[in-house]
Amino acid sequence: MIEQVSKLSVMLFIAGIAMFSYAEDKANLAGEMMHQHHNMKHSIVDGRISLGLSPEMKQHQLSNMRSHLEAVQAITSLIAEKEFQKASEIAHSKLGLTEEMRKMCNMFNNEDFTALGLAFHESGDSLGDALKTKDTTKSLRALQSTLGYCVQCHATFRQ
Ligand code: HEC
Repeated sequence: MIEQVSKLSVMLFIAGIAMFSYAEDKANLAGEMMHQHHNMKHSIVDGRISLGLSPEMKQHQLSNMRSHLEAVQAITSLIAEKEFQKASEIAHSKLGLTEEMRKMCNMFNNEDFTALGLAFHESGDSLGDALKTKDTTKSLRALQSTLGYCVQCHATFRQ
């Protein structure tokens, strides 16, 4: 009888360890999943500053942006063809600080964005001036400086 009781308690003890380690594994798994979920959440968070634009402003801005990109493409190919005068005209009219662009930049409720936008368009005019010298190296340096504003603004702001 005593032997049976002690056998039973040994069995219960073993069963208890098994259950405990099972529960521990489950807890670890749940913890890992939560951790992974946490990381996933981190990677999809866009930390850039939102401009809080209306749907109309969004479309207007994106179409403006596509035209900036087209201008950069045209200027690049015109530099390669040594058509500096044409490239300069595009730089001033499409990337420079025209009245239209000044107005556009001043429409945002974010001073830093407006300042960056205006500085970008001023660099477009500097690019236009550099192109007038017909010096490829000077022109490329100015173009890379203008592109620096594209990169900087996109890294900082979103719609
Ligand atoms: C002062 C800020 C600023 C500058 C400078 C700027 N952009 Fe943008 N651009 C934006 C914002 C904001 C968006 C929207 C991004 C978002 O919400 O993810 C955008 C979006 C774009 C898009 C996406 C268009 C679409 O239809 O989806 C292109 C292309 C683009 N920009 C090109 C350029 C190029 C090329 C330059 C430089 C020659 C430039 N941008 C300079 C702010 C800027």
